[in-house]
Amino acid sequence: MITWVTDLDEVGGLEGAWAWPVRLDSPEAARALAASPPTPCDLADAALLRSPDAGARRLLRRRLLRVLVARAQGRAVEEVALGRADDGAPQAEGAFVSLAARGDWALLAVGPSPLGVDLELVSADPPPDFGAPSEAPWAAWTAREAYAKAAGISLDDALAAEVLAVTIDRIDLRAGPRRIAAARFERDEVVCAAVVLPA
Ligand SMILES: CC(C)(COP(=O)(O)OP(=O)(O)OC[C@H]1O[C@@H](n2cnc3c(N)ncnc32)[C@H](O)[C@@H]1OP(=O)(O)O)[C@@H](O)C(=O)NCCC(=O)NCCS
Repeated sequence: MITWVTDLDEVGGLEGAWAWPVRLDSPEAARALAASPPTPCDLADAALLRSPDAGARRLLRRRLLRVLVARAQGRAVEEVALGRADDGAPQAEGAFVSLAARGDWALLAVGPSPLGVDLELVSADPPPDFGAPSEAPWAAWTAREAYAKAAGISLDDALAAEVLAVTIDRIDLRAGPRRIAAARFERDEVVCAAVVLPA
């Protein structure tokens, strides 16, 4: 189960997954950032990006993700360290995490089992449809990309997943023998999807 977070104070426990769409320049982000100073590890990871602007945004996302993980685990933010797997996927101790970003928006997620998230701006040019229903191109795209991240497969492989159904809060995919239910959430100018795999 996944809960879309609209108020960080709601987050507590790791029985299910939490996904938080947040603008980096919003008051809610500012409140969370005040409690999450950058760690040397965060700074080193952000410095891997050549563009200072992109590095600064990555740093904000990591500091916010540490707050989300801390809330879910009931720990102090200072106790949460984020790492990165060889394939680039973010990692946290004792939980699964995923994140996506576009411009000033981020989608941050934590849960007790492998998960993946994606976020896109609705104002962007629609993606290639890859057989998706034309009325929901971004919903289908984000579901497939979230599935790629959750399953640790390439985006190309995930784009081959067939879209079975799209509803207001869910996208059903068929990937080979697998049925994948992606949670869908739209807010302001973003469309978000999250896929949580069984533990
Ligand atoms: C992972 C990928 C699909 C992200 O696509 P994107 O649209 O550029 O960016 P998004 O905003 O959606 O996601 C970026 C975040 O995904 C995460 N990420 C990166 N590689 C990842 C991976 N292999 N698996 C899961 N998450 C990954 C990172 O947290 C990254 O943000 P950060 O670098 O600031 O920490 C893309 O980087 C990619 O295709 N990578 C190479 C292929 C690959 O390794 N695939 C394996 C799983 S997708």
